[in-house]
Amino acid sequence: MEFIIAEDYEGMSRAAADVVAGVMADDPSCVLGLATGSTPIGMYACLADDCAQGKISFKDVTTFNLDEYVGLPGTHDQSYRYFMDENLFNKVDVNKTSTHLPDGCAGNLDQMCAEYEAQIQQAGGVDIQVLGIGHNGHIGFNEPCEDFPVATHPVDLTESTINANSRLFDDVADVPRRAVTMGIGTIMKAHKVLVVANGSGKAAIVKEAFTGPVVPSVPASVLQLHPDVTIVLDSEAASELELM
Ligand code: PGA
Repeated sequence: MEFIIAEDYEGMSRAAADVVAGVMADDPSCVLGLATGSTPIGMYACLADDCAQGKISFKDVTTFNLDEYVGLPGTHDQSYRYFMDENLFNKVDVNKTSTHLPDGCAGNLDQMCAEYEAQIQQAGGVDIQVLGIGHNGHIGFNEPCEDFPVATHPVDLTESTINANSRLFDDVADVPRRAVTMGIGTIMKAHKVLVVANGSGKAAIVKEAFTGPVVPSVPASVLQLHPDVTIVLDSEAASELELM
């Protein structure tokens, strides 16, 4: 695992964008695995700037997002499709038909999940998977559990995640109780993984996940077993690490 520690959120965002831009420079038709959440918003802004300046192009890029709420259409302002459109896709030259999120409104979620996995494989797999990390160590909506879930699957959200995400909804009752997420196996198949985290609230979980034991009760800890992981932190999120 490589750690990049930036001073602040802006530095973290720029450093993370540089990692993604590097993969895009090496292969302009690469497959990006993308994440939502507040952490990567600055990184997406940097990538949109790079694209506006002609440094990178998303023209031939394919994207697959980690997860989506069940029951929110893409037009809902809390859906992850809406988030991606607003924060990245509408600001860059990506072909929208090459952008994929799990369909949380599918009639048969299990079938949709199997098709999503197949689409990722048909695209050649994910070249770089961007991940945030939850306070409980979740990645995507893979919550602490007894076994690492393998493939894309529907999940019941934990109270901790519902409460954390309720800040973005008018009322906690409006937060969907279910989601669809890539599995840990899906994530581990990505050729490269990029984790972003900022703020003192993430310091303890960053330490636990990346320097503690690999256990499914801390889903992100599995990344210690991946051969190519870059973790980009601000100084606050890195404050409990003893790397130096
Ligand atoms: P955040 O979410 O970026 O909003 O902190 C990260 C996550 O829960 O995966």
